[in-house]
Amino acid sequence: MSNSVLDILGGATRAVFEEMGFPAQYGAVRESDRPDLAPFQCNGAMAAAGFLKKKGEKSNPREIAAKVVEALSVHPAIAGMEIAGPGFINIIPSENIIADRANILLDDERTGAVKADTKTIVIDYGGANVAKPMHVGHLRSAVIGESLKRLMRFRGHNVIGDVHLGDWGLQMGHLISELEFEQPDLPYFDNGITDRFPEESPVTMDDMAHLYPAASSKSKADPERLQLSQQATAELQSGRVGYRALLDHFIRISIEYLKAGYGELGVEFDLWKGEASVDPLIPGMIEAMTAQGITEESDGALIIQVDENYDAEKRKGIPPVMLRARTGAVLYHTTDLATLIDRKNEIDPDLILYVVDQRQAMHFDQVFRAAVRAGWYERDQLEHLGFGTVNGADGKPFTTRDGGVLRLADLTEMMHTAAAKRLEENASMQDFDAAEREDVANKVGMAALKFADLQNQRTTNYVFDIERFVSFEGKTGPYLLYAAARIKSILRRAHEQGVSAGSIEITEKAESQLLLSLDAFDRALEQAAAKRAPHILCEHIYRLAQSFSRFYTECPMLKDDVPDDIKASRLSFAELTLRQLELGLSIIGIEVPERM
Ligand code: ARG
Repeated sequence: MSNSVLDILGGATRAVFEEMGFPAQYGAVRESDRPDLAPFQCNGAMAAAGFLKKKGEKSNPREIAAKVVEALSVHPAIAGMEIAGPGFINIIPSENIIADRANILLDDERTGAVKADTKTIVIDYGGANVAKPMHVGHLRSAVIGESLKRLMRFRGHNVIGDVHLGDWGLQMGHLISELEFEQPDLPYFDNGITDRFPEESPVTMDDMAHLYPAASSKSKADPERLQLSQQATAELQSGRVGYRALLDHFIRISIEYLKAGYGELGVEFDLWKGEASVDPLIPGMIEAMTAQGITEESDGALIIQVDENYDAEKRKGIPPVMLRARTGAVLYHTTDLATLIDRKNEIDPDLILYVVDQRQAMHFDQVFRAAVRAGWYERDQLEHLGFGTVNGADGKPFTTRDGGVLRLADLTEMMHTAAAKRLEENASMQDFDAAEREDVANKVGMAALKFADLQNQRTTNYVFDIERFVSFEGKTGPYLLYAAARIKSILRRAHEQGVSAGSIEITEKAESQLLLSLDAFDRALEQAAAKRAPHILCEHIYRLAQSFSRFYTECPMLKDDVPDDIKASRLSFAELTLRQLELGLSIIGIEVPERM
């Protein structure tokens, strides 16, 4: 409970409904659909009338509403109430309660955000693959996952972010077999050598970036070449030491490269585990599941049924989980299940969130069902948070001009360039030196990219439109950075003029509105966390920036004829707003420059 103005009003109305013999929840107060009439409303009179009617008593919602209004007519938190339509109660909070609340938020580092959650949560996001370059699909996972991690942490949860690298599948066999063509004399390929492999990696990231596509395209054209990759994968998985040593190099080199790429995005993982890291758990896991009697042989493969109503012929229902293929290879299902055991052993989380492309929904449904069948987790401890694709103007998944997948590095470069170009049109940038320009362009580019992604409902696809993303107008990252940087400049000016902040007083409607916007922060955080929906927080931040802008137009702060105490109050409003804007933006991974 955050003690927001809404909470206080709700407490008052709930008490009245209860006194009148109705369930207290009928007194719930919410933000109004018609903020032009009143900021809050209570719709409980209709429910209360229905309640009476069910009991066979006379019922009239407007009359009930009138009684509620009457009972609250002298409440100190309420300035006015009005009944609208069939019995909606519009509620206007008093200036006193608003000023009190404003001063509480002003004194609170967290500007009203409570910290009461205590779960241990693993967030599985990023999901880049070793050797394959990251692409725009991995971008969404990184950006959404990072913001959920920060959000959950800010709420108080103990959150562990794991990148869960893809480092155990066929792409490893491709790399190994292709490298063998190029450098057959390496000790890793000599079965007689089983230890003391060189410490230096035989390949760089650039080498891997060409080895993989070379092997993959050859394999598409030539089944025999594919078989070599499959063979290498199987040998790797069955523990061939040279291959394993090679894999360790691949992973180490990739992690170095990925750390830099994610770092540029402001994305940080607590764990850099991957599929390969859980390989040692697989034999024991398969044995235990078999002993439980939940596995079955099917066509030489080992499977787990996860849907009683599954019908293979009609292709209805959820197909079984594949623990082991006929070739003996383990699969994506297997490593994800072993990872669940690893997380249970190492962390014992209350909840695991998987931030992965919506197109993998079936995979996670299968894995979760198997883990529940095995008795490791309850179903509600495992959640797949899918997301849509990033599309080009043609509505198809976004690619480069020549049709290839876009690399993350190219994408951030593009955003930087577009932001720099847009900033050049900005007169004040002319005074900045090269380093500051560079820094501002970086921050604007990142803000543009992240906000464009996060402001959408997670599951929807969106169109990649760089011009719109970097615009300073509308619901964009750059608009929000500009709003925050402008407050910083206002604060600097106030400082120069010797104005100091003081306690908040409410004298104008725009001030009340600004406070009520600020006061919605905790609700936005709570809902965004509950729905795993960063866009709810984005919406809050955007509204806050707009409320401040209205406030700043209507409530002069630094003009000579403004009394000192009002100047001090408005300056506090500016400080408070900036603090909350920066907090909110940092949760969605956006940093504000000092000026722009
Ligand atoms: N590496 C995978 C991919 O690129 C994503 C991994 C997602 N996480 C997981 N636990 N399966 O598609």
